[in-house]
Amino acid sequence: MAFTWSSAEHAIGVSVFDEEHQRLAALMSQVHTALKEKEDRVLAQNLMGALIYETWVHFDHEERVMEEVGFSERDAHAAEHAALIQQAKEMLQKVQRGDISPQAMPDFLMTWLMSHVQITDRRYAECMQQRGYR
Ligand SMILES: [Fe+2]
Ligand SMILES: [Fe+2]
Repeated sequence: MAFTWSSAEHAIGVSVFDEEHQRLAALMSQVHTALKEKEDRVLAQNLMGALIYETWVHFDHEERVMEEVGFSERDAHAAEHAALIQQAKEMLQKVQRGDISPQAMPDFLMTWLMSHVQITDRRYAECMQQRGYR
């Protein structure tokens, strides 16, 4: 099933990052649509490449703000970001080599992105809110 953003479920309470997460989730849904409705594997792989790049930009933004607000878990969080980018690149390479079906991409992306948002990103919300981020 295509992913649907829900503020109640997915928002972390820092609007700049909620907006970025929502844009990434929309791109993730486009990968799903490309595969399931258009059956366009090339488009899906291109979109996944774009998603990895956009996610990398987003991670860099989060790391800069965590630094600015002095969030104590910043380094561990950044290490998780680096591991996630690596995992997604490996997944895309497997699809490109034909080692895994492109149909596996939407489920992978859903878990890959949303579990980080819902668990790890929530941890910085309070610290940023105390420093004026809303
Ligand atoms: Fe994030
Ligand atoms: Fe993050």
